[in-house]
Amino acid sequence: MRTTILDLQKMKRNGQRIPMVTAYDAPSAHWVESAGIPAVLVGDSLGMVIQGHDTTLPVTLEDMIYHSRAVVRGTSKALIIVDMPFMTYTISAEQALTNAARLMQDGGAGAVKLEGGASMASTIERLTRVGIPVMGHIGLTPQSVHQLGGYRVQGRDQGQAARLLDDAIALEQAGAFAIVLETMPAALAKQISERLRIPTIGIGAGPFCDGQVQVFHDMLGLFEAFTPRHAKRYAELGEAIATAVRAYAEEVQSAQFPDAAHSFDMTETALSTVYGGAPDTSNGHG
Ligand code: KIV
Repeated sequence: MRTTILDLQKMKRNGQRIPMVTAYDAPSAHWVESAGIPAVLVGDSLGMVIQGHDTTLPVTLEDMIYHSRAVVRGTSKALIIVDMPFMTYTISAEQALTNAARLMQDGGAGAVKLEGGASMASTIERLTRVGIPVMGHIGLTPQSVHQLGGYRVQGRDQGQAARLLDDAIALEQAGAFAIVLETMPAALAKQISERLRIPTIGIGAGPFCDGQVQVFHDMLGLFEAFTPRHAKRYAELGEAIATAVRAYAEEVQSAQFPDAAHSFDMTETALSTVYGGAPDTSNGHG
C-alpha cells in the first residue's frame, strides 16, 4: 500500500517532518523512494530541469502523464503527486476535472497539485468532492512568473503576507490535503503552518514548515543554469557524470575500452563456419 494523504496528515499531527523530493523518471523515483521519501512530486519543474525551457509554462498535460507513468513504475510505496501544468485547470472547474482525471487514470497519480490561492478554492472543492486529492501551492507560484515579475520572494509586506495567510486558509477549507509554501519569509510560513491543520511543505520557506520539498536536479548538482538560494546541494552528480564520461571517452580513444571483460567470445569452430577459418585479428579488429 502506498503512503496516503491521511498518512501525511498524521505525520503533521505527530510532529514528524515530511521530506519530499521531485522525480521525473523511473530510476530517480526508485532511488528517492529507497531513501525513505514517503511522497514524490512529479513537478512541472521538469520543464526547466529536464526539457531545458526557461520556465514551466510550456509543459503540457501529455508531458506530465508521460513522466508520471514512469515515476509510478519506478516506485511501489510512495504517494505520487503530479503537477497540473499551466492553463490546464484555470479555464473552468470542468477543465480542471477532466485534466486531473487524466493525470490519475492515464498517469497513475495518487494526487494532483495546482498553483493559486483563494481564487482556486472552488476548483479544489469540485475536485475533492469527486475523490481527487489536491495539494495547493502558494507564495512564489512559478506558473505566474511573468505576472510576479520574476522568481521573487513573496509575502514580505504586511498586505501580501495577510493575503497569503487568507489563501492558505481558503485552500484548507476547500479540501486541499496539504499546501506547498514556496519562497516566502520563514516567519510567515511558520504562522501559516501553525494556523493550518493540514501539512505545509516548504521550499524556500524556512525551517518551520511541516515538511520540505526539493527539486531532485537542484539538490544533486544536476542543473547548472542556476541554483536557487533555497536549494542545498547534497551531491555533485553533474561533476561525477562529466568525470565518468570523460574517462570513458579517453578509454575509447586509447582503445582501452572495451577490454576482454566487456567483450564476448565465440568458439573457434563456430568462427570457422562463419569465416571458413579464423580471421586475421592482428590489426585489433575481428
Ligand atoms: O514543479 C515543482 O517541482 C514544484 C516544487 C518546486 C514545489 O512545484
